Amino acid sequence: MIELDIRGADQKIIGNANGLNLAEEFENYKEKIANIITDLYSKKDTAGEGLQWMNLGYSQETSWYVKEYASLVENRFDNILVLGIGGSALGGLAVTHALLKPYWNLLSKEERNGYPRIFFLDNIDPDQMNGLLGILDLNKTLVNVITKSGDTAETMAQYMVLKDRLEQELGDDYRKNIIVTTDRKTGILRQISEQEGYKAFVVPDDVGGRFSVFTAVGLLPFALTGIDIDKITSGIRDMDSALQYTNIYENIAAQNALIHYLLDTKSGKNITVMMPYSDRLKYVADWFVQLWAESLGKNRTLDGCEVYSGSTPLKAVGATDQHAQMQLFNEGPQNKIINFIRVGEFDTTLDIPQIFQYTGIGYLGGKTMNDLINAEADSTQVSLADYSRPSVTIKIPKIDGYHIGQLLYMLEVQTAIAGALYNVNAFDQPSVNQARNYTYALMGRVGYEESAKSLHEKMLAKV
Ligand code: PA5
Repeated sequence: MIELDIRGADQKIIGNANGLNLAEEFENYKEKIANIITDLYSKKDTAGEGLQWMNLGYSQETSWYVKEYASLVENRFDNILVLGIGGSALGGLAVTHALLKPYWNLLSKEERNGYPRIFFLDNIDPDQMNGLLGILDLNKTLVNVITKSGDTAETMAQYMVLKDRLEQELGDDYRKNIIVTTDRKTGILRQISEQEGYKAFVVPDDVGGRFSVFTAVGLLPFALTGIDIDKITSGIRDMDSALQYTNIYENIAAQNALIHYLLDTKSGKNITVMMPYSDRLKYVADWFVQLWAESLGKNRTLDGCEVYSGSTPLKAVGATDQHAQMQLFNEGPQNKIINFIRVGEFDTTLDIPQIFQYTGIGYLGGKTMNDLINAEADSTQVSLADYSRPSVTIKIPKIDGYHIGQLLYMLEVQTAIAGALYNVNAFDQPSVNQARNYTYALMGRVGYEESAKSLHEKMLAKV
């Protein structure tokens, strides 16, 4: 199982000014935490609570559908192109990058065991998109359009470009190269998909975009690229069993949520750094950034009081960021908590050859890259503590489907518990929707004329 080491946040290690008295805080909050966990689990089946993501590890149906489709199209496509943004892209990107062989898209078909390459278009930069279209053989490309709402401007614009190109190239057959993942009933994409006759998968009700990685949003791309989704769901279930403990001493998601909440609200540690010591986990940090930011950044509590809650998530990657951000983490403002993610066992052991005897680098020869990355993580942890900077360490035994399922699910539950501690709705995103509506207005969507008028006035005044 994944473990959490919280000693780096304790006063005993980093001093009274910046650390927490964890023994005392856990005692103070144990009842509140128990109530939050009981409440979460008692509401997870209730419609409208936004908690259906807590049931995804147990949903056999989606796994069955995506596996069936993946085996149906096996060997038909060389490329999967995912169109989506935010929660409709980041989970898929994080998990495929972690679980597929490194540099997957550069490997030969044999090295990929016959599975396709995978590309995520999660932005609308015309140069980037045009560049990708220039290298993909569309005939051999399966386009997975993912949008829960079914009308996100970025994703729908990408879809329109792709549909047009596919139709030009493949004639009426283009429909076989498009699959959609969207809401069961509502949204324009659902409508289009029924008219066009695309194969469609569902984003279930009560699962917000950033909590949707274990719906068909993620599971379909995983199955299409040969990732064993049963291992992922088994990891989620085991973590779910562990997180049902209402006792804070036994619940790592609750511990980490509480530590972050207290450090933010009591001692101004309002930046949460997610720092995996693993390149394969670097997009897990991006996924976490969205999860934490959109869930906790709220200006009202559940009772409608003004709050401006949330700590700002920041991505860093070890060891790379030791040479970029670490100076700031150690000596800059005392406003951060660092979350290390440490890998127990890498798939590879890579020897550093003994080819130089110079004193400056001779010590490296005969060691392994594994020794080096672990030593760097150890030393960074200690140096942060020297500077009285709080940290916690998530230990993942191995990067495989089972543990990735555990890791992401643990971080989701941690976020939900943090939302309850801040007393905010962790499952909505009103200001993302406001920006969406402004875009519709500026792009001339029918029904948004008034909004467009006032926006133009505001832009003249402000920009
Ligand atoms: O978490 C969320 O709900 C958002 O970040 C969405 O994932 C994002 O806005 C994309 O929305 P959609 O899937 O509707 O296209």
